[in-house]
Amino acid sequence: MSEKNQEIKEEIRKRRTFAIISHPDAGKTTLTEKFLLYGGAINQAGSVKGKATARHAVSDWMEIEKERGISVTSSVLQFEYGGFCINILDTPGHQDFSEDTYRTLMAADSAVMVIDASKGVEAQTRKLFKVCTMRHIPIFTFINKMDREAMDTFELLDDIEQELGIATCPVNWPIGSGKEFKGVYDRQKNQVELFSDTQKGTRQGSVRILDRKDLEKEEWISGEQKDRLFEELELQDGAGAVFDQELVEKGKLSPVFFGSALTNFGVETFLKYFLEMTTSPLPRRSDQGEIDPMEEEAFSAFVFKIQANMNKAHRDRIAFMRICSGRFEAGMDVWHIQGNKKVRLSQPQQMMASERKMVEKAYGGDIIGVFDPGIFSIGDTLTTAREQFVYEGIPTFAPEHFARVRQVDTMKRKQFLKGVNQIAQEGAIQIFQEYHTGMEEIIVGVVGILQFDVLKYRLEKEYNVEIRMDSLPYEYIRWIRHCPVDLDKLSGTSDMKKVKDLRGRPLLLFVNSWSIRMTLERNEGLELTEFG
Ligand code: G4P
Repeated sequence: MSEKNQEIKEEIRKRRTFAIISHPDAGKTTLTEKFLLYGGAINQAGSVKGKATARHAVSDWMEIEKERGISVTSSVLQFEYGGFCINILDTPGHQDFSEDTYRTLMAADSAVMVIDASKGVEAQTRKLFKVCTMRHIPIFTFINKMDREAMDTFELLDDIEQELGIATCPVNWPIGSGKEFKGVYDRQKNQVELFSDTQKGTRQGSVRILDRKDLEKEEWISGEQKDRLFEELELQDGAGAVFDQELVEKGKLSPVFFGSALTNFGVETFLKYFLEMTTSPLPRRSDQGEIDPMEEEAFSAFVFKIQANMNKAHRDRIAFMRICSGRFEAGMDVWHIQGNKKVRLSQPQQMMASERKMVEKAYGGDIIGVFDPGIFSIGDTLTTAREQFVYEGIPTFAPEHFARVRQVDTMKRKQFLKGVNQIAQEGAIQIFQEYHTGMEEIIVGVVGILQFDVLKYRLEKEYNVEIRMDSLPYEYIRWIRHCPVDLDKLSGTSDMKKVKDLRGRPLLLFVNSWSIRMTLERNEGLELTEFG
């Protein structure tokens, strides 16, 4: 192996690329901030998310996120810790953006779920977390806010297992919660890590570790708490799942950790275990079989996210890609498979804690954003490999809400069309047209209702176009795989609507599932699909 290839393999082996998902307010931003603190990427807590004055994280780009306090776009942060190079992908914390979360998870090798100990799996996040289990990647759980009154530990674990259909294996076990929170018991090392409020999480906080036998003498923990701890541990040892690395790798068993991100308790322990238990960049499926970063020497990547207008002054459009193999070098020429052309990847960027910076080199596992002159689409493959391959695509979710959208000022038609088209290319919305009349009417479909707000806001802010939206009663969309008659003669229910997508393919919108069944019954041989 050449020296260059040796270097590439070593760099890739060091990479840990994961997504963090959580319900808003569970503590994802705080946890991310503490990770960065350990990595030395920031030197002061609060750099990621300031207090009252600037209630937003560096990873929040759009104003709407700040205003509504929800994260709409996902961004990436890179830092080093303990010999690892870590890429954290942030995801929106609301189920209405679960499609975005799914795309982000496509770029991750594992996921960390942050759960509020007093709330368990929350309604709004159920869908997000489910999306995580759909990817079959390792899922790690951090149960946060143990310094506050928490749900019973068994109940919390049961909640995760029931809601997400994944087994859990607590790596550590909490001793009390809230005012009575005394620390966590490490089930692998049989040691107790005693809780101390580390000055709201500055790094200096000292952690006291006790062996199990010393715990007996410890007066800080009451006899009652000790009895309870040993009783709970015994119960868990007897009835709970045992740790199994293989099941973790298949996404069937989630290692669970307890802590308090705000006080910085349990964060470093989590990080250390997590980095050992999670995987380095995984092979990816392509039309030529799996591409393994440890074997494929050429550069290859796929686009998983496109974001326009991140910097209003430059009106730029950035395509985010996950590098799957090889080494990226700034300004390199690569083959864009879907465009069937050679392209130069210019202005490559990476997020480093609080700033965007230009990257000169990046390796399999890393995420980079490159300037997109409007040629990339989500799912596109780029590579320098002589024997070309295409990475498996990223599925689109079927929209569940529809609205007719038009601009208020008819003079702004051009900007309006440009805006909706660009936002659709980013994958934030899907657009359809009336089947016969074409572009005059635009029907927008979204997976989560909040995406309509984002569309309206962005058209106003970025394209200076005010819009009117009339919601439509449809909830189901079906693409037509086979139609036995001329589409005009299709006999549907009275509330069915025919539309076409951007590629001119016909689709049917339905108000309820009964209408779908009726339409299928009335047209023998008609075949409908849920995916475009
Ligand atoms: P998110 O990104 O998941 O939305 O959550 P974020 O980290 O912003 O945390 C939400 C709130 O919960 C914040 O308080 C944060 O300080 C608090 N928090 C996070 N981790 C812990 C923890 O371990 N224990 C306790 N007690 N609180 C925690 P806030 O008052 O909404 O905001 P701020 O003014 O503190 O920034």
